[in-house]
Amino acid sequence: IRVAVVFGGRNSEHAVSLMGAGSVLEAIDRSKYEVFPIGIAQDGRWVLATDGQAYAIEEGRLPSVEGSGTALALPSSGSILALEPGQIPRSLGEVDVVFPVMHGPFGEDGTIQGLLEMAGVRYVGSGVLASAVGMDKAYMKLVLRAAGLPVGPFVVVRDRDWRIDRAKVLKEVEELGWPVFVKPARAGSSQGISKAHDAESLEAAVELARQHDPKILIEAAIPGREIECAVLESLGDAPAEASVPGEVLVKGEHEFFDFEAKYYPDQMALDAPADIPAEKAEAVRAMAVRAFEALGCEGLSRVDFFYTPTGELVLNEINTMPGFTSLSVAPQLWAASGLPYGDLVDRLIQLALA
Ligand code: DAL
Ligand code: MG
Repeated sequence: IRVAVVFGGRNSEHAVSLMGAGSVLEAIDRSKYEVFPIGIAQDGRWVLATDGQAYAIEEGRLPSVEGSGTALALPSSGSILALEPGQIPRSLGEVDVVFPVMHGPFGEDGTIQGLLEMAGVRYVGSGVLASAVGMDKAYMKLVLRAAGLPVGPFVVVRDRDWRIDRAKVLKEVEELGWPVFVKPARAGSSQGISKAHDAESLEAAVELARQHDPKILIEAAIPGREIECAVLESLGDAPAEASVPGEVLVKGEHEFFDFEAKYYPDQMALDAPADIPAEKAEAVRAMAVRAFEALGCEGLSRVDFFYTPTGELVLNEINTMPGFTSLSVAPQLWAASGLPYGDLVDRLIQLALA
């Protein structure tokens, strides 16, 4: 079985994708799968990764795809063409399945999924609609709320609102109550997210978020512990399964679970299974599966909750391609549930082929 592991991409989670791909390439069973590592450079070029490709943060430097390798094209039905300057395109043969270990816009948002649909290639993870809905926090929350899931209060600020009618935005935000979290609607790994404590800091927070997306989501800050749960599609007709819930414990000086806490060494710990009452753990698992089904997800997702001091569960978001290094939360939750990383990778590929 020929598997293309695709990583990188044209977005700010480029490096996060490489970290995940590095883990997948290490764990994938080479006796079962023939693997093609394919990087998408920041400028959008597809290249065959070389052995020198770095996948980890080294000396504080984030990895990125070197755009200078053999350029690739994936025209149709999984056949990959190598495009060397001045030469006739050379076929590398067909791949049976693509594993896009990619996050954020142009990776996790339905665009590469649509490209693969058009090309008639099977791929790991959610399809076009679930990916697109999961990427846009505003639509995601509308769908989750419509499914009866407990989503916190939020307002959506579109580009025009911010430029033309800031007084209206401020009024809506004041109704949420301070502090608020300001987020780009379509981004990931907490990039562009900050907390605003008053009207003055809101201004800077919105401008920061707008560097990632002209569409912004502003949410009431929900006090509580961060509980996350992974969901995995079943092979066959059984419903999707939920992992044990885990609690994210952020260490050091972080106002919230930000990019550095997520990816730099020793900034977070995962307590799995989370130390919460059994009935709350069951509620988390049931809601995580409902969220997965509400969006029509496939493969794997991670669903994030807040567990408030009064014992309430609030669903923060779903990620259709959660961080996927072997030490990331979703893989760790599956490991704690009895499914080691290598088996998780295998299961995802088998689901895509099924
Ligand atoms: N967007 C990152 C990869 C996550 O949700 O884990
Ligand atoms: Mg996310």
